Amino acid sequence: MQKKQLAIALEIYAQEHELPAEVAALMQEAKKARANAYTPYSKFKVGAAIQLSNGEVVTGNNQENAAYPSGMCAERTAIYAAGARFPEAQIKAIAICVKAHNQIISQPASPCGACRQAMAEYEQKQKTPIPVYFMGETGPVYKVDAVLDLLPLAFDSSFL
Ligand code: THU
Repeated sequence: MQKKQLAIALEIYAQEHELPAEVAALMQEAKKARANAYTPYSKFKVGAAIQLSNGEVVTGNNQENAAYPSGMCAERTAIYAAGARFPEAQIKAIAICVKAHNQIISQPASPCGACRQAMAEYEQKQKTPIPVYFMGETGPVYKVDAVLDLLPLAFDSSFL
């Protein structure tokens, strides 16, 4: 038997204003998108903004449904829109932020497992790591250098 440690590097920006200007601008787009989230059930709003190599920014937010599982997270809404509209573009970075109705979230909320899987697909498709920045409503911003840092041992097309 062999034991292996898997470690990831997490960069922590104590405040949003410490982010590089272009990332701060992307986070602002995520916040704008968050405001339009459709969340009558959870009242938990998430915004995502994707910077593309062609200069476009594609945003998304969570869209809920009375049949709960039919709803969709912000990250997948955004990344599927990017894939649908600009299939040839490279994804340079993703910014994500959340906001709850009943508490100020001051720590980063990281993307759910299904969104990690979906984002990992596009990272593998473009063969270039995608940095992911995520935050709460206030407080620090976490950065990982790649989606796969959030999803070690990911399932991918090599198994198919
Ligand atoms: N949600 C996201 O949009 N992204 C995530 O990564 C986690 C959860 C949404 C789904 C649902 O509309 C609400 O947040 C509460 O789970």
